[in-house]
Amino acid sequence: MQRFPKPQVRRSNRLVGTNYYLLFIKSSNKSRVAVITGGARRLGRQITYFLARSNYSVAVIYNSSDKKEVTLTQKYLNSLGTEYEFYRCDLRNLVKTKELVRKIGKRFRKIDILINNAGVINKTDFLKITPELFENTISVNLKAPLFMSQFCYKYLLKSDEPQIINIASIGGLMNWSGFIPYSISKAGLIKLTYLLARRLAPHIRVNAIAPGTIVIRGEERLSPSKIKPEKIPLNRYGEAEDIIEALKFIIDCKYLTGQVISVDGGRSINI
Ligand SMILES: NC(=O)c1ccc[n+]([C@@H]2O[C@H](COP(=O)([O-])OP(=O)(O)OC[C@H]3O[C@@H](n4cnc5c(N)ncnc54)[C@H](OP(=O)(O)O)[C@@H]3O)[C@@H](O)[C@H]2O)c1
Repeated sequence: MQRFPKPQVRRSNRLVGTNYYLLFIKSSNKSRVAVITGGARRLGRQITYFLARSNYSVAVIYNSSDKKEVTLTQKYLNSLGTEYEFYRCDLRNLVKTKELVRKIGKRFRKIDILINNAGVINKTDFLKITPELFENTISVNLKAPLFMSQFCYKYLLKSDEPQIINIASIGGLMNWSGFIPYSISKAGLIKLTYLLARRLAPHIRVNAIAPGTIVIRGEERLSPSKIKPEKIPLNRYGEAEDIIEALKFIIDCKYLTGQVISVDGGRSINI
């Protein structure tokens, strides 16, 4: 399996005056821009790293990640020489989210890829679900991707090959009765993927990844409650690299839209 390479330190070209200006205009038209929600830690951070290594400029949206997490992510991006911006925003607040996307548009001029990665999960028995828990889960996992897509639409149209990639979950395909709000929200996100793929074709491709249990190296402690690996056909948990492989495929496969790729070691075939 491919491992993440060590970041390489790239020295910036120091140019002055008109030359620098022309180079800037040229490269800023050519360089690709990715927006990643929840991109400062865990899976989102690995996605941010991958896109940065693939020469995207990145706009990273985070909410409650602490300074240490943000600084760690920025340090890696600095080592790659990536053009980036971090934006703090609670995606449940759609007024602020709209304003934020306007700022991103002003800063980067266009968006080539929107990755709707932010999500929340809570294990709760049916009888203990509260309206607040339900609304919170739907707001982050479903409403935010819908409205992020809508707010980013005009900037996506400025790209030659725009795309939206939603990070769903096999919880949206399987029937996890201990995670009713989460499963409904991710099922909704999968449906949203199909609907937007139709609505936005042929201009914007829209696909989703439905991960199974993914353990993030170095952040294992925070992994959601896990089933035994023996219950997964491929007999192991997934790693961030497994998701990145699917992401690469979606980004590169120009004839792909409206698809949901389950990256789950075969777990969802046990439906
Ligand atoms: N890891 C897995 O096994 C697995 C399996 C299936 C699906 N997924 C999906 O993959 C995605 C990432 O998973 P993960 O394990 O890295 O999740 P995680 O550890 O729960 O992280 C969630 C991310 O969402 C962001 N977020 C949550 N609420 C937000 C809000 N109100 N506004 C803005 N950002 C918010 C968080 O940012 P802050 O910390 O900055 O608030 C964080 O970066 C999620 O959508 C998850 O459902 C993961």
